[in-house]
Amino acid sequence: MKVRIGVIGTGAIAKYRHLPEYASRKDVEIVAVCDIDKAKADKVALRFDVGQVYTDYKEMLEKEKLDAVSVCLPNYLHAEVTIYALNRGLHVLVEKPMATSLKEADAMIDTAKKNNLVLMVGQNQRLAPLHVLAKKVIDSGMLGKVNTFRTVFGHQGPEHWSPSAKWFFDKEKAFAGSLADLGVHKVDLIQYLLADIDEVACFSAIMEKKNCTVDDNSVAIVHMKNGVIGTVETSWTYKPKEENGTVFFCEKGTLKMAVEPDAPLVAYFNEPGKGRLVFEVPKIQTNEEGGQFSSGVIDSFIDTINGKIQNPIPGSEGRKALRAILACIESNTSKSKVRVEEVK
Ligand SMILES: NC(=O)c1ccc[n+]([C@@H]2O[C@H](COP(=O)([O-])OP(=O)(O)OC[C@H]3O[C@@H](n4cnc5c(N)ncnc54)[C@H](O)[C@@H]3O)[C@@H](O)[C@H]2O)c1
Repeated sequence: MKVRIGVIGTGAIAKYRHLPEYASRKDVEIVAVCDIDKAKADKVALRFDVGQVYTDYKEMLEKEKLDAVSVCLPNYLHAEVTIYALNRGLHVLVEKPMATSLKEADAMIDTAKKNNLVLMVGQNQRLAPLHVLAKKVIDSGMLGKVNTFRTVFGHQGPEHWSPSAKWFFDKEKAFAGSLADLGVHKVDLIQYLLADIDEVACFSAIMEKKNCTVDDNSVAIVHMKNGVIGTVETSWTYKPKEENGTVFFCEKGTLKMAVEPDAPLVAYFNEPGKGRLVFEVPKIQTNEEGGQFSSGVIDSFIDTINGKIQNPIPGSEGRKALRAILACIESNTSKSKVRVEEVK
């Protein structure tokens, strides 16, 4: 039996990731798409051979017999639409950040639990093969304990990814800028690789973007629950190339993830004669042209629905990443360090 899918929002992430990745699976039927911009929805429906097009997601869920939906909408709509779909008995894959507040995230998690449905969040960095392997390397102890790290995600800004998407720059719709867009990926990644974040100190700024009420650059110092300290840098003004890398400085050497062009994952050892070890693993998925690889999110969502795997990014993990980002925002506003557990 095929999993019957509806995609709500047919902008950049739906077009570049959700639709092609669903279309590549034999056990999925993309039944319908929905966007308030009918021309956009019509265009992707044609490209991905989708039979039904809607401009109202409620009507789509009313009329079509679906098993699951992807929520590919601006951040402020994630909670409302996710909860609506869950209450109609559908599994939901919601894009990151899962919501704009903890209250919304909690309501989404509770609704999924109450209805016994899958709620997965599109925090795909933890699924990238080089990060999965990096976790094994760290956990193996070959580099000793991690002392400190640096993780960075920066590009030229969302206008280069989705030119018509003005909402990214509007605090009312996005709730934060590079922090919510890119930082949420990196805090999820380091929490997956190391430990939960305990405390943050963050500076945010608007350096270049016009008509923008959210940060286009942020730098956070984070203290993890296992005592490790590090930095998370996010930017919408890195030019011309994006950066999307992480470095762990460890007792016995250094591990670089998505930093060196010829070596997606490489370990350098302090011990004389040991040199560097380049791991055989594909490059990280990139938003830059020509660099698209499968994100693993859609495969994981379908395999979770089919009971083949445990949900690798449940709502609780989305909430954890969101909470760390909210702590960063609070820290920047209050000009003080913020304990993540104290964020309400
Ligand atoms: N996982 C990732 O790496 C990744 C990358 C980029 C974006 N995203 C996330 O995906 C989400 C969408 O981002 P995007 O870049 O595709 O934005 P986008 O603006 O390109 O697409 C959003 C679409 O939603 C439509 N829309 C708005 N309100 C609607 C409504 N009420 N009903 C139906 N359609 C509506 C818009 O017309 C637009 O086509 C965001 O939450 C973003 O953070 C995730």
